Amino acid sequence: MNQPDPKSQDLEPIDSVFEISLRPPLFEEFAGQDKTVERLQVMVEAAKQRGDTLQHILLSGPPGLGKTTLAYIIGNAMNAEVRTTSGPMIEKAGDLAGLLTNIERGGVLFIDEIHRLQPAIEEYLYPAMEDFKLDIVIDQGPSARTVRLSLAPFTLIGATTRSGMISDPLRSRFGMNCRLDYYAPETLAAIVSRSAGLLSSTLEEGAAMEIAQRARGTPRIANNLLRWVRDYALVRAEGRITAQSAADALTMLDIDAEGFDEMDKRILEALIGLFDGGPVGVNSLAVAIGEEAGTIEEVHEPYLIMQGYLKRTAQGRVAMPKAYRKLGLPTPQSSTTPPAQPDLFKA
Ligand SMILES: Nc1ncnc2c1ncn2[C@@H]1O[C@H](COP(=O)(O)OP(=O)(O)OP(=O)(O)O)[C@@H](O)[C@H]1O
Ligand SMILES: [Mg+2]
Repeated sequence: MNQPDPKSQDLEPIDSVFEISLRPPLFEEFAGQDKTVERLQVMVEAAKQRGDTLQHILLSGPPGLGKTTLAYIIGNAMNAEVRTTSGPMIEKAGDLAGLLTNIERGGVLFIDEIHRLQPAIEEYLYPAMEDFKLDIVIDQGPSARTVRLSLAPFTLIGATTRSGMISDPLRSRFGMNCRLDYYAPETLAAIVSRSAGLLSSTLEEGAAMEIAQRARGTPRIANNLLRWVRDYALVRAEGRITAQSAADALTMLDIDAEGFDEMDKRILEALIGLFDGGPVGVNSLAVAIGEEAGTIEEVHEPYLIMQGYLKRTAQGRVAMPKAYRKLGLPTPQSSTTPPAQPDLFKA
């Protein structure tokens, strides 16, 4: 069985009393991402019918959309052992060799944050992925030799929140490249209902949707909000999770009806208030709000961009009219009306 290794560094919140994991173990229980799931199911089925090893798979997308979950589901479906590591944890070629030589035939190596692999380690990975061979350098100086080890055929599943940072040679060695998208509120509501069932909580009419709409398209956030709503309801609403008590609970967290949290608001406020709506570089924005540039890029920005509050341009980040409306500010003329074009073709 391939339940997540409790010692692995993937710290999914576990319900402290009942130790219940909300991670769906099967494709059938994984909601949404229909196209991706269908493709993966076909691949898995074909590999099983042929008795083959599954091709290498790259999963990309913002945090909390289900990359790790899918990696375990794939392992489960293949009846394969899944070993988990992450890009920054592989420091030396020897670490990689240790992992790869220990994988059994058809096993899965899951490398999270694969964009953070060192270039030298990446080079080692290429022949391993392509030919299941590993070139190891023995000794140093003039007596150094390379020994070629044969590996058992395995499947590499890589996950990344920054697919743009994956080098082309690495990307091209994956047989399948899956990009996960933000979830629709209806799908998130279904996920929230499933999770509530696992946590033995009853959601009344409209409560699941209330939580789903404020979850920024992200199952992990939806589950976290559900846990909070459940606590709130227990203490403040006689344990009843209604649409109203859910809304009250989330308002108490300063999460508004569109799922904006404090950091989203600070980003828009800084962009408009301090930088006149941009364009401004992400590093200046990061300093202004006291957050890491990488976190803004990976965690906050994608949702703001997808929702049309913000735009990434070559010159930097620009606030869109929707951002002004969100903060209750008048939209500056220039961002609503396009600059007048000289009409060259008029007589
Ligand atoms: N499609 C889904 N259906 C049901 N639950 C889901 C789904 N996707 C994710 N989840 C839930 O959301 C949580 C977060 O998912 P997961 O850890 O797989 O995200 P991730 O993409 O690996 O995030 P990160 O980039 O931060 O590692 C999981 O614990 C799981 O409970
Ligand atoms: Mg993950």
